[in-house]
Amino acid sequence: MWVNRVTGRRDNGGVARTIDWDEHEAAIVLVDQCALPATYRLLHVASVDDLIAAIQRLAVRGAPALGAAGALGVALAARVHGTDTAAVHADAQRLAAARPTAVNLRWGVERALAALPEGAGAVLAEARSMLAEDERVNREASAHAADLVLQRCARRPLRLLTHCNTGHLAAVAWGTALGAVWHLHAAGHVEYVLADETRPLLQGARLTAWELARAGVPYRLLPDSAAAAAMAQGLVDCVLVGADRVAANGDVANKVGTYGLAVAAARHGIPFVVVAPSSTVDKTVPDGGAIVIEQRDAGELTHVAGARIAPDGAPVFNPAFDVTPVELVTAVVTEHGIFAGAAR
Ligand code: MRU
Repeated sequence: MWVNRVTGRRDNGGVARTIDWDEHEAAIVLVDQCALPATYRLLHVASVDDLIAAIQRLAVRGAPALGAAGALGVALAARVHGTDTAAVHADAQRLAAARPTAVNLRWGVERALAALPEGAGAVLAEARSMLAEDERVNREASAHAADLVLQRCARRPLRLLTHCNTGHLAAVAWGTALGAVWHLHAAGHVEYVLADETRPLLQGARLTAWELARAGVPYRLLPDSAAAAAMAQGLVDCVLVGADRVAANGDVANKVGTYGLAVAAARHGIPFVVVAPSSTVDKTVPDGGAIVIEQRDAGELTHVAGARIAPDGAPVFNPAFDVTPVELVTAVVTEHGIFAGAAR
């Protein structure tokens, strides 16, 4: 029996996952990220409608995990609809459109759907192989990124800054930018991680802090607005972030606030490294200007923990992501090595 020390899940297959297929229940099982850090619980999702709702309320989130959710969602649809392939295709389209920015979601849906002519069993087999692949490629990408950070930063041990959540919870397992932190920490190279709280949904405060604590990595939370000041005070050797979509030219869409971090990092000569699986690269979009940015509900800003904090009717601008131009990025690192970057 193997126990994942972050998720606490037990799995006889040797891999404990944030999202998986439960054969016994014929359902998707996922860590409910809305409940963390107060409560660790698993959700069993047995319908495409429930999966779409879970994706939209961010119970499952993070680009690689969304790719897995898309693939497993098609497997679920294929099982439910049997030979009605038109119904499976309709569900697949709804799934792919559940959130627009992370290209992994559509990628996962389309890859699983390609197995549909061979039947529901083949779709599930493909989705399951994608789960194993997710952990492998993210370990590889983050190992390349860790090597790059060690080349770029002279100081030891390292003081790293990250944004949003890019760990086990954002993927099937392991993670991307936090995956590089796991590698660096295991080699004894991490002094601390500064974790942006990541307004407004607090993926940094709720999820990254939880993962870092469980992994025993020293960390401090900071308001997003303090990151530039931390850089100015010489407290940061490298910024490590993930990505939701990387355009063909290397522009990076990631959690809103990433662009500001890149501007500040460039101002202070600090390497800015993006870690993502190659499934996050979308060569069909020439540059970041063509990436659709998800706009989220006004209530995420007007309310905190259910209590209104802004005047009634306050107009809101609430993009979930922003685009960092490639010239501000030291490197976008995938499992294949450096995909793009200004190498500054
Ligand atoms: O809105 P979220 O929480 O899904 O946004 C997640 C991010 O922006 C992550 O940085 C990105 O998906 C990379 S995760 C390895």
